[in-house]
Amino acid sequence: MSPGDLDRALCGMEFPTDPNLIVGLDKADDAGVYKVTDDIAIIQTVDFFTPIVDDPYWFGQIAAANALSDVYAMGGVPKTAMNLVAFPIKEMDISVLRKIIQGGLDKMKEAGVVLVGGHSVEDKELKYGLSITGFIHPDRVLTKKDLKVGDCLILTKPLGTGIINTAIKGGLASKEIIKFVTGLMATLNRDAAEIMNDYPVHACTDITGFGLLGHLAEMVVDSNYGIEIWSEKIPVIPKALEYAGMGLVPAGAYKNREFRESMVDFAPSVDRLIQDIFFDPQTSGGLLICVNRESADDLVKSLKKKGINDAAVIGEVLSKPTGRIVVC
Ligand code: CO
Ligand code: CO
Ligand code: CO
Repeated sequence: MSPGDLDRALCGMEFPTDPNLIVGLDKADDAGVYKVTDDIAIIQTVDFFTPIVDDPYWFGQIAAANALSDVYAMGGVPKTAMNLVAFPIKEMDISVLRKIIQGGLDKMKEAGVVLVGGHSVEDKELKYGLSITGFIHPDRVLTKKDLKVGDCLILTKPLGTGIINTAIKGGLASKEIIKFVTGLMATLNRDAAEIMNDYPVHACTDITGFGLLGHLAEMVVDSNYGIEIWSEKIPVIPKALEYAGMGLVPAGAYKNREFRESMVDFAPSVDRLIQDIFFDPQTSGGLLICVNRESADDLVKSLKKKGINDAAVIGEVLSKPTGRIVVC
């Protein structure tokens, strides 16, 4: 299955409603949010996948950073986690699983999150991930649809991890680039989220399976505004462009393109390889933050001061073309 398949499967079904449900399935946001009291809402999210790097310890860290990210994208603070494990116990040594879980645990510790349980099944294919619960004030929830005309968009991590992962699977990636992209994917979005929460941010999401353009499409679809992004400002892992030129573009990027291309207007100067990178599915990608224009440069400065060096203003929200993305 690819991102969006579950949404399609659920399409048209009726779900129970509840007056305390702030963000539910109908909104298809990064996570669900449920109000417990006037001051506290819980954020819930779950994510798991097959290994994307060979090293089990790093895979565990990446899976945890990826699962935690949806809580940060809602503006919240993650608190508890549960492991989800599918493991081929007959073919693989249990020590591999121990390393994966240790990686997850170390990432949780870094995030200040406690592991409270989990569930495992035997499976032909190894999978690992977590369900995460976080807290937020009910009035401070950041969804992906509350953009305001005149806002600027900020991206906090460079794009291209899907393409690099394809090169890794094909045995074509160098040790240096594997190390770089592994570290990038294992980096928590916590610092970016903490900093953003001090600014007049209107909306936020994190870049994952749909790629930059897929997530932007979710933001503008059925809206009364449009988004313009500036290719030259968008942070990209330089090696990703090289690998894309060698044809190492994952199938997911083509699926993302097929799904959302009709909403995007590319300027003639934006070549096909760059377009592929903007559709490239990311693992544990950066936050996409939508903030008051007046605060955008200052927010980027604060992000960089904290070591988030790739952070950049990549575009803006315009009154038109409504429901469309212009890439120039
Ligand atoms: Co998300
Ligand atoms: Co997710
Ligand atoms: Co959000």
